[in-house]
This record gives sequence, C-alpha cells and structure tokens, in this order.
Amino acid sequence: MPLDTLNRPLRDLRISVTDRCNFRCPYCMPAEVYGERYKFLSKAQMLSFEEITRLAAVFVGLGVTKLRITGGEPLVRADLEKLVAMLAGIDGVQDMAMTTNGYVLAAHAQPLRDAGLSRVTVSLDTLDEAIFGQLNGLGHSVDRVLEGIQAADDAGLTPIKINSVVVRGVNDHTIVDLARWCKERGYIARFIEYMDVGNLNNWDESEVVPAREILDRINAELPIEPASPNYTGEVAQRWRFTDGEGEMGVIASVTAPFCGDCTRARLSTDGKLFTCLFGSEGTDLMGPMRDGASDEDIAAIIAAVWDRREDRYSELRASLRRALRVTSGATPRKVEMYRIGG
Ligand code: GTP
Ligand code: 5AD
Ligand code: SF4
Ligand code: SF4
Repeated sequence: MPLDTLNRPLRDLRISVTDRCNFRCPYCMPAEVYGERYKFLSKAQMLSFEEITRLAAVFVGLGVTKLRITGGEPLVRADLEKLVAMLAGIDGVQDMAMTTNGYVLAAHAQPLRDAGLSRVTVSLDTLDEAIFGQLNGLGHSVDRVLEGIQAADDAGLTPIKINSVVVRGVNDHTIVDLARWCKERGYIARFIEYMDVGNLNNWDESEVVPAREILDRINAELPIEPASPNYTGEVAQRWRFTDGEGEMGVIASVTAPFCGDCTRARLSTDGKLFTCLFGSEGTDLMGPMRDGASDEDIAAIIAAVWDRREDRYSELRASLRRALRVTSGATPRKVEMYRIGG
C-alpha cells in the first residue's frame, strides 16, 4: 500500500462523473464563462462506466475504502444508477457517498439507494429564496432542492449532510436559519469556509468567514459543544447541540487546514488523477488504459504518483499566493473544481 512523502496513505477516491452542471454558482462555474457556447467534454473524452469501475477497483486494490461520486453535478449524467450498482459490486468498498446540488434528486433518490449508494451530501448554501437564486446563478428555486433532500431521507440515504459555502456579505447572515432547519430534521449542516479553488471566482480572503465566527454566531442562538472526530483525517470539525438533538460541522480549510491527514485522490471526468484539490496538472490514466495497459500497469502508475505526492496547498496557501504575486503578479492556473468535484 503506497504512502506519500508525508506518510499519508491512499484511502478515499472522489470520482467526477461529468463536467456539466445544471447550476451556475458564481464561485464555481460563472454563467458569463459557462454559457451556451461553452464546450464541455464529449462522450468519447469521458471515462465510460466500465472504465470508471475498472479504475476504482484498481484504487481499492491500493487501499481505498471510501468512494465519493461528484461532478459537476453527477445526476446530469444519464443512467448514473448503473454506475452506482457497478461500483457497489467492488469488494472492499465500505462507504459510497455522492455530492449533489439536489436539484433533480427527488426522482433519483430511491433508484440510487436500490443501486447501493450509502448516503448523499447535498450542497445548499442558504434557504433564502432570493440569495439561493443568486448563488445558483440561474434563479432556481430552493423548493426543488428541499424536495430532493426529503426524498433522499425517505429512501434512507442517511446520514444526510448539507454543505453550505459561506461567503461574507452574501449568505453569512442566513447560517443560523440553515443550522436550525437541519437540526430540526436530523440533517448534519456543514459550513465551509470559502476557498480559492479554480481560477475564476476572484477569491479574496476578506470574503472568507472564519469557522470561529461561524461557530460563535450559531452558538449564540443554538448552543453547541465540540464532538470528537468520526475518523482520522475527517475534513469537518464536529459540534453537537447541547440540547442533545443533533450535530453540525465546520470545514475550516482556510483558517485550520487539514492537509496533514489528507488521504484523498481525485479522478477527473476525463480520466486524470489529481492528488490535491488545488492541483494544476493531473496524471492521465485514461490514455494508458485505452492503449491496453493492464490493471497492474495502472496500479503501478497510481502508486508511483502517490509515492511522490507532497501536496499540502491549504497549509501553504498564504506563502504560495504571496510568492506568486511577487514573481508573476498572478496565482498559478489551478484545475477548476467542477472538473474534480470538490
Ligand atoms: P464525509 O465522508 O461525509 O466526511 O465527507 P467529506 O466531508 O470528506 O466530503 P465533502 O465532499 O462533503 O467535503 C465537503 C467540502 O469540504 C468539499 O466540498 C470541499 O469544499 C471541502 N473539502 C473536501 N475535501 C477537501 C480537501 O481535501 N481539501 C480541501 N482544501 N477542502 C476539501
Ligand atoms: N469554496 C468552498 N467550497 C466550494 N464548493 C464549490 N466551490 C467552493 C469554494 N470556492 C463546494 C460546493 C459543494 C462542493 C462540491 O464544493 O458547495 O458542496
Ligand atoms: Fe454546479 Fe456544484 Fe459547481 Fe454549483 S458548486 S456550479 S452546483 S458543480
Ligand atoms: Fe488535501 Fe490538497 Fe486539500 Fe490539503 S489542500 S487537504 S492536500 S486536497
């Protein structure tokens, strides 16, 4: 089992199944850039379900026990349930989750559960209809997402986690409402510090609401106390409500980076392996596979990449950004988040 240069094993694989999305969140796929004429990947450029399953099995052979299906928006890929069933058939997968924006989840929840999906995490930045419309870039109503979440709950895709990216001046005044709404329904709200992923969101640190401030604001109305992690390297810091009813979390990747325990690999829609959310170049696995590489050959490519891995972008963020501004006036090109699914 490979260990990287910082002694981190390979445990999680996040699989992006499409680069398309039915939302245009300004911090991810701004509508001005991703309009009607934007060329997304063609079918031939994307891994097929058989190819994804084959690669996932190779990753499992190298120590992966946890799979997460992402996009873009995974549910815009046709017949996704088929892929879920194929992945569920791999021996050694202990947990298979999906990150979705929930917009078309209502129709898919039960079939996904039947196919073997363990649980879903739904991205929902706010319950406020106007702000939600602005944050999804297309004015879509929050009601469809709430129906999707209810359907996931009914189908048993639990525990349901609700991810909310907090952007100062945009949705930060709505976090307590969302925390309360989730608490009342037994969902785990997770507030994410806004990050400088990709190259298009003009990220500025002043827009980040530090986890400490998020916690203070919630604690003032819904008292919370720290809870211990479920597993080593858990991305979210867990907090439980002191009335004994429910828990929530914060993901402090800017103010308290968690690279030290990062065991995550990411597979892009076009079959490239990324070892960090902030990578710029991936390692092509699709090419060798289509050229006839055996499973052993592919495992050797992955193991060699992992062996050399030294990523810890979030821990180095401040100094990397500073150094690059000094030398070139710009930060480096990074992979866009919708290509590797967050
Ligand atoms: P669980 O298996 O439920 O614990 O999921 P998770 O928290 O690992 O995954 P999820 O996809 O829900 O992660 C939530 C958010 O945390 C992502 O959308 C990212 O914004 C952020 N995140 C997840 N993994 C990483 C990572 O490796 N690095 C950084 N910087 N942020 C991450
Ligand atoms: N910072 C933090 N989280 C982000 N996500 C997308 N862009 C960002 C960003 N800039 C989150 C989405 C979703 C997941 C895929 O990543 O809200 O929950
Ligand atoms: Fe789509 Fe998710 Fe990106 Fe929003 S954050 S545009 S829902 S992929
Ligand atoms: Fe892992 Fe890179 Fe995120 Fe650090 S910044 S936790 S190395 S994905």
